[in-house]
Amino acid sequence: MTDTTTGLGTEDLRARIATELDRTRARTVGLTEAVDDGDLTRQHSPLMSPLVWDLAHIGNQEELWLVRDVGGREPVRCDIDDLYDAFKQPRKDRPSLPLLPPTEARAYVATVRDKVYDLLDGVSFDERRLVTDGFAFGMMVQHEQQHDETMLATHQLRTGPAVLHAPPPPEPAARVAEEVLVPTGPFTMGTDADPWALDNERPAHRVELPAYVIDAAPVTNGAYREFIADGGYDDPRWWSEAGWRHRQEAGLGAPMHWRRDGDGWAYRRFGRWDRVRDDEPVVHVCFHEAWAYATWAGKRLPTEAEWEKAARWDPATGRSRRYPWGDDEPTSAHANLGQRHLWPAPVGAYPAGASPLGVHQLMGDVWEWVSTPFRGYPGFAAFPYREYSEVFFGDDHRVLRGGSFGTDRAACRGTFRNWDYPIRRQIFSGFRCARDARPEEADR
Ligand code: AVJ
Ligand code: FE
Repeated sequence: MTDTTTGLGTEDLRARIATELDRTRARTVGLTEAVDDGDLTRQHSPLMSPLVWDLAHIGNQEELWLVRDVGGREPVRCDIDDLYDAFKQPRKDRPSLPLLPPTEARAYVATVRDKVYDLLDGVSFDERRLVTDGFAFGMMVQHEQQHDETMLATHQLRTGPAVLHAPPPPEPAARVAEEVLVPTGPFTMGTDADPWALDNERPAHRVELPAYVIDAAPVTNGAYREFIADGGYDDPRWWSEAGWRHRQEAGLGAPMHWRRDGDGWAYRRFGRWDRVRDDEPVVHVCFHEAWAYATWAGKRLPTEAEWEKAARWDPATGRSRRYPWGDDEPTSAHANLGQRHLWPAPVGAYPAGASPLGVHQLMGDVWEWVSTPFRGYPGFAAFPYREYSEVFFGDDHRVLRGGSFGTDRAACRGTFRNWDYPIRRQIFSGFRCARDARPEEADR
């Protein structure tokens, strides 16, 4: 096992947890200090929480799992649990709740964090499954990073001048093929070994797949513009029934945040308008748009298993890796992750992150919709709570893979599964296409 977490001695594990907690909190602070109190408490879209809700919810989850459960300590505040319970408070209602104002929310999360550092010093990592290999701490790091990405999506919906800044992503450094053939055969999907993997990524299991062909890169703005120009949004042939209904009701005609600009298109990214750049992966499309594009292109979306085999299967050893490039943690050379940049990188910008078969940009840039609904793997067992994954299993949600430019490396890996409703597109969502291999291709 080459994961960086396992195999650490107790003191090294404590140090690693502290580093991850710190690094994550710095991001949360950046996202919540970039705007004033009005913008922290206002609702920028009915789809999103006020930023100050996310902030205190992060602290409240940390209090519930780490301070009270792992640490066995007294509550910091037991009067606010219901306010920050995502199941009790629908997003649209959150702005009218008596939320902690920004100053109090900041003080609350800081108090909780102090107690976490205190209990981290004395915790024994082998007493309960919840803390084995530091799992509960890893779960809270991922939880906070997931809300940080949600807050980044809220920033994208916010109107007004730009407040977030980052250098542009790297330019293309390699030519990328159109498609890659993945040969027939089994691979291992999911994981038993990754200590901070969440319940829905487990257990590892063998999946047999016939040969298929997958796009070597996510679908670009340039390709997507052709779909628009060809009348793709006006032709029900390309859409599923539910997709067409949604396209009509919501009046879809282009990705979210696009507007016509002369004879082309412009998009708004975190308060700035730019000309749409053709070689970047398209972002802010819903599952139905991805499906319609794929059908128009004579292809289909990959299944989740096809996506994961393309991302993890090593043809030399037959083993599934943690990432397309191997087992090493992502660096800035591998993938556009972690809000280092504020939009997807052009195709070819990350040759070091390609899979052995030559599939590029599977990690980072855009979350990729896959065709299959969100279900538990064979042998799934909810851990440590049903409300993380299990209550979302079923046909209502679709899976997204690989992480976006706004996803931290702690909250994404080759096995990581995200999900959302098929109509959602305020998230950093794109896609790539796949197709069955033709007999003459499969025999090669
Ligand atoms: C896995 C991203 C769908 O944000 O709804 C955050 C993660 N779960 N708090 C979400 C999550 C509880 C979840 N997603
Ligand atoms: Fe949450």
